[in-house]
Amino acid sequence: MARVVTVARAESFGPGARKKVFAGDRRIAVFNDGGTLHAVDDTCTHSGGSLSEGPCENGIVTCPWHGGQFRLSDGKGLGPPAYRGLTVYPVSVNDGVVVVTVDQTQP
Ligand code: FES
Repeated sequence: MARVVTVARAESFGPGARKKVFAGDRRIAVFNDGGTLHAVDDTCTHSGGSLSEGPCENGIVTCPWHGGQFRLSDGKGLGPPAYRGLTVYPVSVNDGVVVVTVDQTQP
């Protein structure tokens, strides 16, 4: 079952913006990276760092705890210590509002 989570008004979520949102037990990090929206798990697969608090540039987010990096377009872990990838969520703008769609059955 899909759940739509409101992030922010699009005009207040410009390039460089980021936000952590919640969908039940899931923490999701949403980024506007140079005008491209991305939504991935907020919890780093290495040891649980909050990715929405890490630097994000050129489609890559860096975990603030140990420097693991993930590609935002597909969640791929780009090297040690981030071996396992992140779940990626569809993000869009509907009626001027940035929203993330979460499939609750997704791992
Ligand atoms: S918790 Fe993210 S790299 Fe260690």
